[in-house]
Amino acid sequence: MTVKTEWVQEAWDQTKAKVKRIHHRIGDGFPHASINGEYQLEPASWWTSGFWPGLMWLVYRDTQDNELKESSESCESQLDILLTDSNKIDHDIGFMWTLTSGARYKILGAEDSKRRALLAANLLAARFNAQGNFIRAWNGEELAGWAIIDCMMNLPLLYWASSITGDPRYKHIAIKHADTVLKHFYRTDGSVAHIVVFDPDTGEKLGVKGGQGFAPESAWSRGTAWAIYGMSLSYQYTGDPKYLNAAKQTAHFFMANLPEDHVPYWDFRSSEGIPAIRDSSAGACAACGLLLLAEQVDGLEARIYRERGKQILHSLYTNYGAWDSETEEGLILHGTSHFPEKHNVNVPLIYGDYYFAEGISLLMGHQERFW
Ligand code: GLY
Repeated sequence: MTVKTEWVQEAWDQTKAKVKRIHHRIGDGFPHASINGEYQLEPASWWTSGFWPGLMWLVYRDTQDNELKESSESCESQLDILLTDSNKIDHDIGFMWTLTSGARYKILGAEDSKRRALLAANLLAARFNAQGNFIRAWNGEELAGWAIIDCMMNLPLLYWASSITGDPRYKHIAIKHADTVLKHFYRTDGSVAHIVVFDPDTGEKLGVKGGQGFAPESAWSRGTAWAIYGMSLSYQYTGDPKYLNAAKQTAHFFMANLPEDHVPYWDFRSSEGIPAIRDSSAGACAACGLLLLAEQVDGLEARIYRERGKQILHSLYTNYGAWDSETEEGLILHGTSHFPEKHNVNVPLIYGDYYFAEGISLLMGHQERFW
């Protein structure tokens, strides 16, 4: 039984009201980062294009607000062109179609959305490198051997495709990729690398890159969050305890390294002289992972994961939320997209907003995830 506390209801009401308010301007656009109070709109091909429709679906599921439904559906149709031009998309197909077609299929049972999500799963499966057992992240000849931790969140589309079609090949690819992550991205302390480079012909591991983290051996907090949630989702779909153990190990690393307000800095292992900037989006995503972990274990362990997930969401709500502001479209402040490139640092990010809303919606007792 879900026991709600007052702030959870308040946070959900604020989320619904703000989504409705910003929908008046954003409509069926694709917001990514909010700069000077206004969400910048990106092309449909940008990796974040699923989060705003996903956020609208979360709210629609509770309110049946038809305007939000129509805008989410329009976002989904705008992605169609990409399904026939795979040069424009990369492995983030999972983020994009899980939260558009996948969500609509789960909510409305719409057959056209199911077809789109399956097409997207085929494109994702086609990125698998059978020699190195990884899904390649990005396009371009020189990047043929690059895999990144973020892809853990793209795997649910493949698991879902197997469950819908009865064809295990999608799942086999997801499992092989997750195993490669365990072998080549994981460190003994539970932290993970952002980018691992393989030889695309032989599959041999060539090295590790810092990517969006401070350095190759540092611990980029959003990457850490992708690993917690991604591994717990892999456990959810496969029942294989090695993924549960990995999710727990990374969750412990994450929880042990949180500052007092429970919201992480952008990298857990940066260096003196580097500004201590938060990434609220990492906190929001990790909180959703902790809430899933809490469902996968029992007793005290379950209570700890749930409480820690709740603590993060509570802090985001009370210390990072932009609820009353008429001059800020973002829901949650202080996200950091790409610190090393100084790109969208310390701003609201649509994926931070999405995971915050998903977490609150889970605390409200809406248990079905889109992943
Ligand atoms: N998937 C890219 C990022 O987390 O910023």
